Amino acid sequence: MPFARSLRLQSLPPYLFSEIDKKKKALFAAGKDVINLGVGDPDQPTPKFIRDAMREAIDNPTFHRYPLDEGLLEFREAVARYYKRRWNVTLDPATEIYPVIGSKEAVFHFPLAVCNPGDAVLIPEPGYPPYRSGTVFADATPILMPLRKENGFLPDIAAAHTNKAKLLWVNYPNNPTGAVASKKWMQDTVNFALKHGIILASDSAYCETYYEEPPTCLFQLDGGKECGIEFHSLSKTFNMTGWRIGWAAGNRDLIAALAAIKSNADSGQFMALQKASAVALDQGDEESKKIREMYRKRRDTFVAAMQKVGIAAEKMPATFYQWTPVPKGMKSVDFITLLLEKANVVTTPGIGFGPSGEGYFRVALTQTEERIREACERIAKAIS
Ligand SMILES: Cc1ncc(COP(=O)(O)O)c(C=O)c1O
Repeated sequence: MPFARSLRLQSLPPYLFSEIDKKKKALFAAGKDVINLGVGDPDQPTPKFIRDAMREAIDNPTFHRYPLDEGLLEFREAVARYYKRRWNVTLDPATEIYPVIGSKEAVFHFPLAVCNPGDAVLIPEPGYPPYRSGTVFADATPILMPLRKENGFLPDIAAAHTNKAKLLWVNYPNNPTGAVASKKWMQDTVNFALKHGIILASDSAYCETYYEEPPTCLFQLDGGKECGIEFHSLSKTFNMTGWRIGWAAGNRDLIAALAAIKSNADSGQFMALQKASAVALDQGDEESKKIREMYRKRRDTFVAAMQKVGIAAEKMPATFYQWTPVPKGMKSVDFITLLLEKANVVTTPGIGFGPSGEGYFRVALTQTEERIREACERIAKAIS
């Protein structure tokens, strides 16, 4: 039977890269040695102590049942201890922390919890796509805030603001630009949100992947908890993208609103996984430091190799992404297609993250240093 997709689905921006995808698939199918620097999916396994904790938890039959709603107290308490240790912030595990099935679903669902049709949502661009799709699915209106190098990849929020604005997304450390925001900028943003009665949603998925100062937490700031909610993930910190766990934390009314949406949509995350994740948070500081140092080396290798061949790469202060200018006069799609075809290296065109991403390509440092070096050698040949 022929059917039409919902107007919601039809209103999302068209997918731009089917041609590139076809080329990628053809290379894989032809058995080419493709180096994939396209996806932000860590190449290393989840640390052994977390896998061991999961193995043990899975044998506990009380974890085999529905977790329901706020899930395992032990997980929320471990999150609270993490905040205390990491930022000296106190959160109530009962009302200010909530487990989510990977931060993506929570980021996507959150506008449904707080926006009405016609509300505006301020979204960084280039940016992580669910800020926009979650907004569109909630019948709210996305207002894009360009991130530009000359502004340190920080949005001009006042310029984008309208009196319809209900929700403001920030994401530092930032995907795709690798930028960080200073404590002062974050405090100014909290002040702006309070002044205009906007909800401030901070996506902190990369808060443990930094190479300079550790990123600021919203709840270290004056008024942060009055207007704010943070979304965290274990995916990148502990190489756990496939496990699907994270949390939301902050203002208790915002947490309760998210919980109300989620109780209609899912029945919580597997409790054995929550238990193993509590162990990860309690015992993982050394491991996440090692992971951070591994990405730092990869970053330095990539940047040095690119600079040698005249690509204006700069060391990003955080995340495992390198947001790098394409050669002058080229479009990002044309450049990444050239890398794909001539070097068999997969990267992402900046335009894929929004119009202000034109002129850049994103490299995910999710291959070993050796493979990154090889990718750089191939890129050097391809552009020579
Ligand atoms: C900025 C940002 N936020 C959130 C996520 C979602 O991570 P997860 O759903 O694995 O927790 C990602 C994943 O790539 C991301 O880049």
